Amino acid sequence: MSSPSGARRRPQATKGSPDASHSARSNSSPDELEDQTSRIISPLDILRVIITLIGVSCALSYYITSGASLYWNYDPWFTQPAKIAQWWQGPLQLTPEQLSVFDGSDPKKPIYLAINGKIFDVSAGRHTYGPGGSYEVFAGRDATRAFVTGCFLEDRTGDMRGAEEIYVPIDDPDEDITSAQRKMRAERDRRKAREKVQAEVQKWESFYASSKKYFLVGELVGVPEYTGPPPKLCEPAQKGRPKRKNMNQNDASDTPGKPVL
Ligand code: HEM
Repeated sequence: MSSPSGARRRPQATKGSPDASHSARSNSSPDELEDQTSRIISPLDILRVIITLIGVSCALSYYITSGASLYWNYDPWFTQPAKIAQWWQGPLQLTPEQLSVFDGSDPKKPIYLAINGKIFDVSAGRHTYGPGGSYEVFAGRDATRAFVTGCFLEDRTGDMRGAEEIYVPIDDPDEDITSAQRKMRAERDRRKAREKVQAEVQKWESFYASSKKYFLVGELVGVPEYTGPPPKLCEPAQKGRPKRKNMNQNDASDTPGKPVL
């Protein structure tokens, strides 16, 4: 039957046209419709999955590292605001007096220590260097000597004069050796001992410089020259000195016990 005159027929949708899909959709049952939409993964879904994975990873890292890190101990500089601020303001130059302000007594200030004339920010170890911490003696000052001797109370100074004594073997008075030989050996021992002190200081400096927690902030300036009699080697260090009697004749490398970190 022909259509009534004047009545307009809707044009047939052609394949590929928007109307085609529309008519296809309108012909689908509700189940098919749901099936079709569930198969489409939008960028938002991908973003949700990524964010969830990052969240789970952070939570796991936090749990496994006992709250120390959200990124599996990977703490790049851009996740450390203190490092960024330091980089922004450039290297500091502090006198011993200015440095003493950063001893951890003010919780709002960073904790600095100096070793070998370099100043490091050790705020990340506040429990170690802050008040009551096992190494608070190093905070706010240059205690390079104590790093070598281990005498944390007596040697809170950067005065290294005579510190090499710690590595100089105590002579055996009964040893069959001429005084000239003894003198020569003493000179050699002292020279070697000085090198060892330098190496020890260097080791600690590198410890801070290469640490992931701590970082270099500048240098110590205006340190007055150490005059007067050099400090005496502290008692524990004196007791720890190597004894010639216990040493191989050619081995002057015996050193007192050092900490294993
Ligand atoms: C010359 C002697 C020593 C020096 C200069 C020294 C220095 C240090 C320093 C600077 C730290 C802090 C490291 C950090 O910031 O992570 C440290 C940590 C530590 N040291 Fe020593 N140390 C000495 C001897 C010893 C000895 C003999 C022992 C053991 C009886 C020891 C046990 C420890 C322990 C357990 C820690 C970890 C403490 C903490 O994180 O709170 N140290 N040491």
